[in-house]
Amino acid sequence: MIALDFDSRPRPADFTQPESLAALVRELRPDAIVNAAAHTAVDKAESEPDLARAINATAPAVLAREAAALGAWLVHYSTDYVFDGSGSAPRDETASTAPLSVYGRTKLEAEQAIAASGCRHLVLRTSWVYAARGGNFAKTMLRLAAERDALNVIDDQVGAPTGAELLADVTAQALPRAMANPALGGLYHCAAGGETSWHGYARHVIERARAAGTPVKVAADAVRPIPTAQYPTPAARPLNSRLDTRKLRGAFGLVLPPWQQGVDRMLDEILAR
Ligand SMILES: NC(=O)c1ccc[n+]([C@@H]2O[C@H](COP(=O)([O-])OP(=O)(O)OC[C@H]3O[C@@H](n4cnc5c(N)ncnc54)[C@H](OP(=O)(O)O)[C@@H]3O)[C@@H](O)[C@H]2O)c1
Repeated sequence: MIALDFDSRPRPADFTQPESLAALVRELRPDAIVNAAAHTAVDKAESEPDLARAINATAPAVLAREAAALGAWLVHYSTDYVFDGSGSAPRDETASTAPLSVYGRTKLEAEQAIAASGCRHLVLRTSWVYAARGGNFAKTMLRLAAERDALNVIDDQVGAPTGAELLADVTAQALPRAMANPALGGLYHCAAGGETSWHGYARHVIERARAAGTPVKVAADAVRPIPTAQYPTPAARPLNSRLDTRKLRGAFGLVLPPWQQGVDRMLDEILAR
């Protein structure tokens, strides 16, 4: 197994130059490609759609084409932003897509290109991803909670915060099984169990920090819920990000832990620093 470090400079290939990826795949001839690269700056993507499309749609399409030619597997991560977020029911893999943003549209184009390429693939649609490394919503809330007396946080977008570690674990479990049984390939929803709003997520993070003895200025009742309409952004977000994960759990016999479990583990790691 080879892990290419796309954080290094120069990068081993550039997703804005999709044919450089083709050359890399032809050189390495992998059995499987796991692609987590994307243009994830959802608001910025609205003003740079060509760049977002190159990274989010064209590059994965090239990876899929090359994987098909090689007989390799492609694992690719997609998003609940392919949906419009109407209603309140969790969506399964058969639900109609209707992205609200450039990011969502370009991620959907990748899904469609991968399916059309004929390559063997696992596409995992996930939501609200975080990791201890790099920036994330919880770290932003901890910083603001230490600085401010009050916080306003959106409470009408609902989903499940999902750790990068959980996605890695699911990938490590599912990929070998799919390679042994190609009928398992396809599109799956993959998110932690349960649901919350950004407001619920923020409160959880702040209470956990307080309990751990971390300095917190904001009072518990000063973390105020606000509707999305009071926090306008260039890109519209789905209100309902609930993903129905039954297909994934059933196909691979997986248990997806409640979202709090991974968030608490991430908090333990960052609060200990
Ligand atoms: N974050 C979420 O809430 C969320 C939700 C659903 C699905 N997803 C999906 O999950 C996957 C991982 O997301 P993430 O949040 O971990 O994203 P992220 O932190 O923004 O990481 C994306 C990676 O792609 C790399 N990248 C960007 N442009 C590139 C280029 N031109 N060439 C090579 N590499 C490039 C970035 O490198 P640099 O840092 O050096 O730019 C970064 O390492 C993506 O497919 C995303 O669409 C994320």
